[in-house]
Amino acid sequence: MKLFLDTANIEEIREINAWGVLGGVTTNPSLVAKESDDPDRVWGEILSEVDGPISLETTELEADAMYEQGVGLARMAANAVVKVPMTPDGLAAGKRLVDDDIPINVTLVFSPAQAILAAEIGAYIVSPFLGRLDDVASDGMDLLRRICDIYQVQGYETNVLAASLRHPMHVVEAALAGADIATMPYAVFKQLVRHPLTDIGLEKFLQDWGALQKELKEGA
Ligand code: E4P
Repeated sequence: MKLFLDTANIEEIREINAWGVLGGVTTNPSLVAKESDDPDRVWGEILSEVDGPISLETTELEADAMYEQGVGLARMAANAVVKVPMTPDGLAAGKRLVDDDIPINVTLVFSPAQAILAAEIGAYIVSPFLGRLDDVASDGMDLLRRICDIYQVQGYETNVLAASLRHPMHVVEAALAGADIATMPYAVFKQLVRHPLTDIGLEKFLQDWGALQKELKEGA
């Protein structure tokens, strides 16, 4: 399972990218708006910072306008993936983009039926939003499992991207369910690496090493 960052903040992206595990980035209009009033500059920086797929979201609602906007976004770089919403216009625009060999990410997916539609238009990525379902007392992980099962049974090649993840166990469960990609906020990415026993173990190793160095110095 590839690990993506769900952010438009270039410092966060640079920090996690330095770990060598960053597979790509997802952005959405809210995340971009939080960073700057110049979306093109924000997207440009991210596209050149990370080698993997970078999702850039359309904001037009009508199919023709969304398609034109998507073509413009795709032209920004070879690793751009155009995000379209799971709406009738999003499907229509998305299908035209796929026909032009532009990879698309169908976003705001909350049901298996919607995920089937995304696969049928040949989307590169489908994004079920787990956390937002959990927020309304529904089972986001169950949705992810059902989509992964359907895609396997049907032989769909669309990548399943677990989105709207809120904590490390979401990431672990998404991997077990068979998600191809998990996208998460910076805070969750940082939580993945932390374990108190790692910190305690490292401190003890370094203490013992320091004691040995002291002994050797004194013996010399
Ligand atoms: C995915 O592409 C979305 O940007 C994202 O995962 C939404 O997450 P949120 O529900 O935390 O806003």
